Amino acid sequence: MQKRLAYLGIASLFLLAANASCLAQSGADLYQSKCQMCHAPDGSGNTPAGKAMKARPFNSPDVMKQSDADLTAVIKKGKNKMPAFEGKLTDAQIASLIEHIHTLQK
Ligand code: HEC
Repeated sequence: MQKRLAYLGIASLFLLAANASCLAQSGADLYQSKCQMCHAPDGSGNTPAGKAMKARPFNSPDVMKQSDADLTAVIKKGKNKMPAFEGKLTDAQIASLIEHIHTLQK
């Protein structure tokens, strides 16, 4: 009996560790779950939703010239058809998303 309890304890520790790694989601994972249905995996906006809403490619000059602060503002407050993510994403998550966007601008 005691042994079984010990196993249970170890199993729940593993579960906790798995949960913690979900919280530390990378920008790429977040992008995949929350952004790519409009912006496309490569940031081109080449998806049915992205085309319908006129999402510009992240590597277009108009987006390239925006500072990280500008991009953060769009993600937080939204812009035209771009939904606002303030309150849904933490500042750290938005920062990691912007890092991911920069990898798509190359
Ligand atoms: C429902 C579709 C949709 C989703 C989901 C979406 N976006 Fe957008 N996004 C848009 C559209 C449309 C624009 C263009 C807004 C405009 O300038 O009119 C845009 C613009 C942007 C811009 C500014 C680039 C520019 O064109 O000036 C950034 C940065 C951005 N989105 C990041 C994100 C991130 C990060 C996520 C996920 C957390 C996300 N978007 C989710 C539709 C979406």
